[in-house]
Amino acid sequence: MIQPIYLDYNGTTPIDPEVIAVMRPFLETEFGNPSSSHWYGIRPKRAVEAARRQVAALLNCRPEEVFFTSGGTESNNHAIKGMARSLKEKGRHIITSTVEHPAVLEVCRYLEREGFATTLVDVDDAGLLSVDAIAAATRPDTILISVMHANNEVGTIQPIADIAALARQQGVCIHTDAAQSVGKIATDVQAMNVDLLSVAGHKLYAPKGIGALYVRNGLLPEKFCHGAGQERDWRAGTENVLEIVGLGKACEMADRSMQESFRHLKTMRDRLHEGLIARLGHVRLNGHPENRLPNTLSLSFKGLEANRILEEIGLEVAASAGAACHSDTVMLSHVLEAMRVPVEWAKGTVRFSTGRMTTTGQIDHAVEVVTRAVKRLRGSA
Ligand SMILES: Cc1ncc(COP(=O)(O)O)c(C=O)c1O
Repeated sequence: MIQPIYLDYNGTTPIDPEVIAVMRPFLETEFGNPSSSHWYGIRPKRAVEAARRQVAALLNCRPEEVFFTSGGTESNNHAIKGMARSLKEKGRHIITSTVEHPAVLEVCRYLEREGFATTLVDVDDAGLLSVDAIAAATRPDTILISVMHANNEVGTIQPIADIAALARQQGVCIHTDAAQSVGKIATDVQAMNVDLLSVAGHKLYAPKGIGALYVRNGLLPEKFCHGAGQERDWRAGTENVLEIVGLGKACEMADRSMQESFRHLKTMRDRLHEGLIARLGHVRLNGHPENRLPNTLSLSFKGLEANRILEEIGLEVAASAGAACHSDTVMLSHVLEAMRVPVEWAKGTVRFSTGRMTTTGQIDHAVEVVTRAVKRLRGSA
């Protein structure tokens, strides 16, 4: 079977063959429990600590500041609930943005039931937050600012270092959901000056179900998972050695080839964009024209429905929709709504995201397939 061209790397990535290779022994023979003091535990324990160092190297932090989790969602839950609960005597106000992933928005919404208040700061038409708007939202009881590093739908990169500087000034804790940026652009926690940062393994060629949370030394988010004391007694449970090893390798690879990879992702993305503009005329680009992930291309086709486009191209190209249309109602994504993308454009929004394995041949074929589909739908619209 010929598989469709994969242009949904923001959805998830395949596991890199080099990552698979380092994981293999832990699938086949190295089954020991890292907490065991006998022979079988030694290599798994060393492998977990080596992976922690690899993640720390990519984030530019100390290994003891890295905690393994099951992914981006869990890391965000730990960071936000953990800090909110541990700081609740100081205040109960959290600031976040309207364009966050549900793994942040839903956590904040849940915390409202525990008596916390959330302010959602609005973005501009490019999906960008202003530091002034965040400053205006701070209150004497603000304890935490959680702002994503890069947006999953449109790729806009937020000015995290500037937001963090404001947070420092105000004595407020700062978390960033970096699920989409880790491995694509620099995520140096010292340069960004953040207190907590979430990593999702399956967005950077590691398996699904593994992630990490950076927690700055000295911070004490409330213990999340009680049990036998793993992960410095903060997130109990026998370590997912197999996937931790995979995440470590994926981080090492990302660190090693960041610049080269950035160039490749961007070249592929821009080739797709330019090819579609050349054949279809005006298509609307969503997200910031420059401050954007190198691989992310959210395009709107006026008057069309995203699901219809995806159906038309589905056998040849895999991408994702920014809106879901059901008979007479349209569900726009909250991100496009927050960016005030006009409905007649927003309805026809498709997100293409390129990856390490994307080739020029794939892009050129995708341009032809999407062009044909859009022309056909425009003709019948
Ligand atoms: C920005 C962002 N945050 C969090 C997540 C959730 O990560 P995970 O799938 O590892 O739970 C995603 C996944 O799409 C994401 O894009």
